[in-house]
Amino acid sequence: MSSLTCAKLILFSIAGVVIQIIGLSLFVYGFFPVKPALSGISGTESFRVPRCNSVHNESEGDLPPDQLKALYEELSGIHPFDRLILMVIDGLPAEFVLGKDHQPPPKALMEAMPYTQSLLANGVAIGYHAKAAPPTVTMPRLKAMVSGAIGGFLDVAFNFNTQALLDDNLLGQFFSVGWKMVMLGDETWLKLFPGLFMRHDGVSSFFVKDTVQVDHNVSRHLGDELSRDDWHLLILHYLGLDHVGHIGGRNSILMAPKLLEMDEVVKMIHTSIIANQDNGQGRTLLVVVSDHGMTDNGNHGGSSYDETDSLALFIGLKNHGSEHASYTVNTVYQVDIAPTLALIFGVPIPKNNVGVLILGTFDSFTDEQHLKALELNSWQLFRLLQAQLPGLSCENSPCESFIDDQGPRKSKCNGNLENMICCLYLNATVLHSSWKSKNVSRNLLTYLLLELQQCCCHA
Ligand SMILES: *[C@@H]1O[C@H](CO)[C@@H](O)[C@H](O)[C@H]1NC(C)=O
Ligand SMILES: *[C@@H]1O[C@H](CO)[C@@H](O)[C@H](O)[C@H]1NC(C)=O
Ligand SMILES: *[C@@H]1O[C@H](CO)[C@@H](O)[C@H](O)[C@H]1NC(C)=O
Ligand SMILES: *[C@@H]1O[C@H](CO)[C@@H](O)[C@H](O)[C@H]1NC(C)=O
Ligand SMILES: [Zn+2]
Repeated sequence: MSSLTCAKLILFSIAGVVIQIIGLSLFVYGFFPVKPALSGISGTESFRVPRCNSVHNESEGDLPPDQLKALYEELSGIHPFDRLILMVIDGLPAEFVLGKDHQPPPKALMEAMPYTQSLLANGVAIGYHAKAAPPTVTMPRLKAMVSGAIGGFLDVAFNFNTQALLDDNLLGQFFSVGWKMVMLGDETWLKLFPGLFMRHDGVSSFFVKDTVQVDHNVSRHLGDELSRDDWHLLILHYLGLDHVGHIGGRNSILMAPKLLEMDEVVKMIHTSIIANQDNGQGRTLLVVVSDHGMTDNGNHGGSSYDETDSLALFIGLKNHGSEHASYTVNTVYQVDIAPTLALIFGVPIPKNNVGVLILGTFDSFTDEQHLKALELNSWQLFRLLQAQLPGLSCENSPCESFIDDQGPRKSKCNGNLENMICCLYLNATVLHSSWKSKNVSRNLLTYLLLELQQCCCHA
């Protein structure tokens, strides 16, 4: 009798252990998804139709930076800007600047950032809620912004022992075309990109109680850097606002003065550089972003709206009219910043990017540039998809097997994912070529390309 109970007990224990193992594997698989990633760095092939058996052109890879830059400019046909200032305000919820649900921010917040609000109201700045993916902590979010790829939760483990970012990313692309870069602020950037910056002054994010010196140490060099013309990329990473949140939450009495301080920085950059672009230093674009938002208590890390509601503000694009001035709910993804900046500056989009062009930023460009940008973005996403969907054919041109004698196969854009992608891709290709001979409305083509990208990104 007792031996029977014992056997049962052992059986139960084994079953329990097996169930635990299954549960753990499900959890680990869900938390650390393994996605096929492309290795290597995007090069000149980014500007050509994706092919399976494309031969890598060695001679182009080894071009000196200035020749590579000239080649990219020629291939992309888009290079309206020469310099970029990337201002990161750590932990700033987009809601503080852009409001929520078509409502402007509360009066106190509007008055805390008068200059930025006036830029938005005049259509000089275009603002977006750039939805961040969890984990909403600084390092993975910076990686997402510069590579367009979403890392797994595993990144959190490395947050306190940051490793250099080896994947294809914007800064690496800028470096390869000879950009000189300066970084002031959170030293996470120095850990991600060791040796990349010509000048830098990193501040430590370790002293969370410090809300003054962390930002003073960034701003003290600003006047000097703005008067120099030896850099192409200036990164400013202000940590103070995040620290204010950690100390006193969203409604801390220190919040309004901190926002005003950030507003002064925007004002200084705008008045000294952006507002007079004809100073012989080339055209400069100012992009103000936040890495993540914060909860009412000032915490972050999770996936709630308050934590993922981060900002992307483009200042210096000439845009028409005031359609962006109102408090619209322009929502994009944080990863969309990477391809958008790559396309604006005419460098290849990083290989594992899953973001799509932020359309409003191209409003002031020509239709040709607009469509070219979308085309380059869809080629890059197609290459990524080829690695993930083996069914995507790619002999000489994408989706070749879907074309027959009568042109693209007369199938509806549905069925399995490969069908859908190829149908959209081929329709867009047909429309693009007839648009080039001015037969087709740009809107339809734009719509199709966007459909394609949406389809790719949810694959
Ligand atoms: C490689 O690139 C160089 C420089 O752009 C070009 O002259 C050459 O024709 C290319 N070779 C091939 C095989 O595409
Ligand atoms: C700011 O700079 C001063 C002087 O260089 C330095 O002593 C201090 O540690 C810096 N503060 C931070 C937060 O990095
Ligand atoms: C794509 O083209 C096919 C015919 O070539 C058509 O049946 C289909 O509706 C088109 N799809 C879209 C989204 O326009
Ligand atoms: C453009 O339209 C004209 C007439 O409307 C037609 O003859 C021509 O074939 C079209 N071209 C393309 C590329 O579709
Ligand atoms: Zn924080």
